Amino acid sequence: MKGIILSGGSGTRLYPLTVSFSKQLMPVYDKPMIYYPLTTLMLAGIREVLVITTPQDRHAFERLLGDGSKWGMSIRYAEQAEPRGIAEAFIIGERFIDNNPVCLILGDNIFYGDGLIRQLERVVTLKTGAHIFGYFVKNPRRYGVVAFDEMQNVISIEEKPEHPKSPYAVTGIYFYDGTVVKKAQSLKPSGRGELEITDINNLYLRDGKLTVSLFGRGIAWLDTGTHESLLEAGNFIQIIEKRQGLKIGCPEEIAFRKGFISPDELHELIKPLATTEYGLYLSRIVRQL
Ligand code: DAU
Repeated sequence: MKGIILSGGSGTRLYPLTVSFSKQLMPVYDKPMIYYPLTTLMLAGIREVLVITTPQDRHAFERLLGDGSKWGMSIRYAEQAEPRGIAEAFIIGERFIDNNPVCLILGDNIFYGDGLIRQLERVVTLKTGAHIFGYFVKNPRRYGVVAFDEMQNVISIEEKPEHPKSPYAVTGIYFYDGTVVKKAQSLKPSGRGELEITDINNLYLRDGKLTVSLFGRGIAWLDTGTHESLLEAGNFIQIIEKRQGLKIGCPEEIAFRKGFISPDELHELIKPLATTEYGLYLSRIVRQL
């Protein structure tokens, strides 16, 4: 399966932080935000990734991630000129997707917790249809909301409903078959002028091709949309990392543990970082194995 990280948008809710700088490059404790969705894809076993950015931010992402080869990945780039909606990612990514199944993850979504990898590994083999994840939240009105009947069948998915039919938000990681491109091309902009990912999900639902599973209470799905939630996400990462002495969302470590790169290649990556806390951490990881 291929992966797309959608990292465009205007980030206006984080102004002035994001006036001249992409939201998805903001620090979340010790790493740029995009490291978290990128490593989520890596943990799911996805190695071919398209990063969609605004035209003005593209170079900064390229400087940070390169072509991905240092982490045993292939990373390509495309631009979204205006934030015309999440579903536009599939139109922009048509050639990259090339009729293959694809996982879309939003560049500002952070997932962490026990069992997460197992759940992702189960759906990364998807060949037909679509799979999305629901997550119990206090304020479902801010999200896509998925509702179930008493047999746990999905009965509706609504974007930011005034009166949510359930407490389950649709998270920002989505798995689709290759027909998602045609579906995206058939969409009309919503009332807010966007090609809605919820409309894509509803097309699959209408065809009986949508499955949904839930991330449980042991999984953290963190918000980074406001100054407060961005700081809280950083604090969360810092607390866990400090307690365990293990990093969350570290691409070098994950590439190494997944066998995407060899011990020698990891040594090469450590060299320029050798005097930093980050480099010392990676050195410890190599020694412990
Ligand atoms: O986070 C999950 C939610 O994401 C889902 O529950 C909703 O169904 C889905 O519509 C979306 O909600 P938002 O409308 O709140 O997403 P937002 O506009 O904040 O965009 C999410 C990220 O995607 C954001 O970092 C910017 C990026 N983005 C967004 C749009 C609309 C783009 O790169 N391009 C875009 O055109």
